[in-house]
Amino acid sequence: MSYTSLFRKKSVVQIKRDAELGFSDAHGGVGADGEPHLRKTLGVLDLTSLGIAAIVGAGIFAMIGNAAFNGGPAVIFLFMFTAMACGFSALCYAEFASKIPVAGSAYTYAYASFGELIAWIIGWDLLMEYAIGNIAVAISWSDYFTGLLSGYGINVPAYLTMDYLSASRGYAAINGLVTQGNTLEAVRAMPDVTNAMKEAYAAWTTAPRVGGIPVICDLPALGIVFVITALVYVGIRESKRVGNVMVALKLAVIFLVIVLGSFYVNPKNWSPFAPNGASGVLKGVAAVFFAFIGFDALSTTAEECKNPTRDLPRAMIYSLVICTVLYIVLALVLTGMVSYKQLQVGDPLAFVFGPEGANLPWMSGIIAVSAVIAIATVLLVFQLGQPRIWMAMSRDGLLPPIFSSIHPRFKTPWFSTIITGLVVAIPSLFMNLTEVTDLSSIGTLFAFVLVCGGVLLGAHTRGLERVENERTFVPYINSQYIVPAIFIIAWAALLYFNADGVRAFFSFTDPSDPTLGAWEVFRHKIPLYAYIVLAFLMAYFCFRRRLSLIPVLGLMSCAYLMTELGITNWTRFGLWLIVGLVLYFLYGFGHSKLSHPAATTSATQ
Ligand code: ALA
Repeated sequence: MSYTSLFRKKSVVQIKRDAELGFSDAHGGVGADGEPHLRKTLGVLDLTSLGIAAIVGAGIFAMIGNAAFNGGPAVIFLFMFTAMACGFSALCYAEFASKIPVAGSAYTYAYASFGELIAWIIGWDLLMEYAIGNIAVAISWSDYFTGLLSGYGINVPAYLTMDYLSASRGYAAINGLVTQGNTLEAVRAMPDVTNAMKEAYAAWTTAPRVGGIPVICDLPALGIVFVITALVYVGIRESKRVGNVMVALKLAVIFLVIVLGSFYVNPKNWSPFAPNGASGVLKGVAAVFFAFIGFDALSTTAEECKNPTRDLPRAMIYSLVICTVLYIVLALVLTGMVSYKQLQVGDPLAFVFGPEGANLPWMSGIIAVSAVIAIATVLLVFQLGQPRIWMAMSRDGLLPPIFSSIHPRFKTPWFSTIITGLVVAIPSLFMNLTEVTDLSSIGTLFAFVLVCGGVLLGAHTRGLERVENERTFVPYINSQYIVPAIFIIAWAALLYFNADGVRAFFSFTDPSDPTLGAWEVFRHKIPLYAYIVLAFLMAYFCFRRRLSLIPVLGLMSCAYLMTELGITNWTRFGLWLIVGLVLYFLYGFGHSKLSHPAATTSATQ
């Protein structure tokens, strides 16, 4: 194995040709008409709708509650910063999507710009974004769904609606208070004992035991993944119809929340605006970023678009802009209707119309129903996207051929769709929401960083036939002075306004916990130290090489959000990538179509 072959690239010409030919012919995916391709049915409206379907979901319907509780009304700044980071990345995605309109998203883009190894890493990473993200979405869906059912008097046993970890933590918390001498009734009445803790306690104590171990799982989460997988298996056209209707409904409801809610805003609730300062706001990074994930998933449908070069980039940008505006206004309305301190709930939109807010029970009901629908549409888009990435990887020989087999009748990647269903459904029975949200966000941010990096390198243009007056979504703006200036101003502002914070940042003791050793303190700061080095290098290269501003800002803002996700997530993410690399060397490297030039003539540049 030579070092250079790890970075062998696929030319854009070759990528397009492979997509056109489809490698499914080899394993029986050809329909009666002899056509192995996916159906091209999506226009710009469908795509924008799919984008919104993917973006507006668990993040805004559920996770925003915790983010607003920690950050107060100032959480809108986090929405703005995240929207900006996503906006720069969306332009870079749009740039690639307009030039390489094939399924595979960032994976395919990385193959053209960085070579095979990085492409594999990003494909593996997208698995984390889509599959792990969908586990989070399925779990959230289940929470809303069981809440809705109990509103109609149908109570699913608690042990069938949650994960083992949540149940054991809730049990431990309540049991701890009981063993201190309190009665169970007294503990239940304590203000710090939340409904979620009580449910977890009930789940743990009522669950049937097998060999002494309580059987606790999230059955509705499993159920919804099976239903959505079946829909995606049957076909993109049917999925599209269902998706469009659902999106119209959820947009209408969000609009209603904003308009009706604005009549109940009490401006006093916006003061203090940032009760817990910047650190409180930044606690919401994973949740707020999760709320924006989705526009990138559109690029996986490139082969099913009528006019991908024109429609895909537009749809990505339209859907992102629409959602950003909605989110910021919604965050302002929510934090204006009740005190931020009350928003630590799993259903904040319904909550603000409940007895502690506007007290409009019919509105809470409508929101609960629409949340169930909204969150299901997110599942739909990601269950649609994941198999298409596997399909692209399989076409390149990095996964076994069956992953790109197209169903003869439904024209969908049937095997990948089934595997995706299993990979999401089974863990959603057992996994914990916070853990999967964090992992999904870090994985997605990494993909964004690489896509911005790809555009920055400009490598994608090397294999392209240059078209006269070709549209670009990333107009060149010289970063030579702007980026170094941002770097210097940021440091000057930090030193001027928060010199103590800067000193504390470079110290290896933690005043709030003096028992922590230097390594323990240092370990948690590694991502931010690494970011400072990266920022310095970027400022230097911008100055020396006049890099393009938009991808630099996209890369730096996404990398910054990654640093806020904590060393534990970085470690898990690193382990995930190592597992991926082992698989690549065991299978992908040897089977890559680029290892067998006969399979792809003129594949390398
Ligand atoms: N943005 C999607 C959601 O919030 C993933 O559910």
